Amino acid sequence: MSIAKFKLALLQIAVGASKTENLLRASRFIKEAADKGAHLVTLPECFNSPYGTGYFAEYAEQLETGESCLALSAAAKENKIYLVGGSIPEKKDGKLYNTSTVWGPDGGLLAVHRKVHLFDIDIPGKIKFQESEILSPGNEFTSFQMGDVCKVGIGICYDMRFAELAQIYARNGCKLLLYPGAFNMTTGPAHWELLQRGRALDNQVYVATASPARSESSSYVAWGHSSVVSPWGEVIATTDEKESIVYADIDLDHLQQIRSQIPVTHQRRSDMYEVIQKKN
Ligand SMILES: *[C@@H]1O[C@H](CO)[C@@H](O)[C@H](O)[C@H]1NC(C)=O
Ligand SMILES: *[C@@H]1O[C@H](CO)[C@@H](O)[C@H](O)[C@H]1NC(C)=O
Repeated sequence: MSIAKFKLALLQIAVGASKTENLLRASRFIKEAADKGAHLVTLPECFNSPYGTGYFAEYAEQLETGESCLALSAAAKENKIYLVGGSIPEKKDGKLYNTSTVWGPDGGLLAVHRKVHLFDIDIPGKIKFQESEILSPGNEFTSFQMGDVCKVGIGICYDMRFAELAQIYARNGCKLLLYPGAFNMTTGPAHWELLQRGRALDNQVYVATASPARSESSSYVAWGHSSVVSPWGEVIATTDEKESIVYADIDLDHLQQIRSQIPVTHQRRSDMYEVIQKKN
C-alpha cells in the first residue's frame, strides 16, 4: 500500500434467505476483490439476512460468537485486507442493533458501529417502516485507522442523510466515509447519489456506499448503484442494480490538492457558526 493511495472495493452482492449461503457468497466476493488488489473491502447493509424488520430477530447474533463475525474475521485475515462488514442484526443485552463491524488484516476487530439514526416512517395508507420498534440506536461515532494511510468514518444507510455526522467525521480527520446502505426504488433514484456527492463536496472527502444487489422478488427492493464519489463531488466509480464489485483508487494527494484549491476548511467563520460534537 503506497502512502497516499489505496484501492477500495464495494461488494454489491445478492442477499438471500439462507444465512450460510450469504456468508459463503460474501467470502467468495471478498477473495475476488482482494485478488484484484483491493486493500479495503466493504460489504452492503444487511448482507447476511433479508432486509426488513421482520427478519432481524431471527437472523441476529452476538458479535463475539456469531457465525457472520467469525466468517468476516477469517476472510480479513486470509486475504490480508481491511474489511467493513456492511451491517448485520446484532443481539446484545436483550436488544437488537443494526451493526457494522470493521476487521483488520490480522483478523482482529477494529471498530463497531451501531446505526445511530433509526429509520421510522409512517405515511398512512402508503408505507410504514419502524426500525425503532425492533432496533435500538447506537450512540457513538465510529472511525478506524488504516495503518498510517487513512482514517475512515462509518455510517449506515439513513445515517448518510445527516450532514452533521459527516462534518464531524471530516473534522476528526476522516478522509473517506463509508455508508453500507439499502435505499429503495423511490429514495434511490431521488437521493442516493445526491447525498453522497453532497457529503463528499461539503467535506472534501471521498464517500462510498455499498448496497445489496436488487432482487425484485424480495419484500424490500434495493436500488443498488453502489458508488464512490471523489472530494471534488464527482462519481468516480459506480454500477447498476446487478450483482457486481465496484473498484476505485482512493488518492489522498488528489484530496489534498482539492483542499488547497478550495480551502473551505480554513475559511469557515467559526465566530459565526459551529457544529458541535457532544459525544465521542
Ligand atoms: C439496518 O437498517 C436499515 C434501514 O436503514 C435496514 O434496511 C437494515 O435491514 C437494517 N439492518 C440490520 C442488519 O438490522
Ligand atoms: C421508499 O421509501 C420512501 C421513504 O420512506 C417511501 O416514501 C416510498 O414509498 C418507498 N418506495 C417504495 C417503492 O417502497
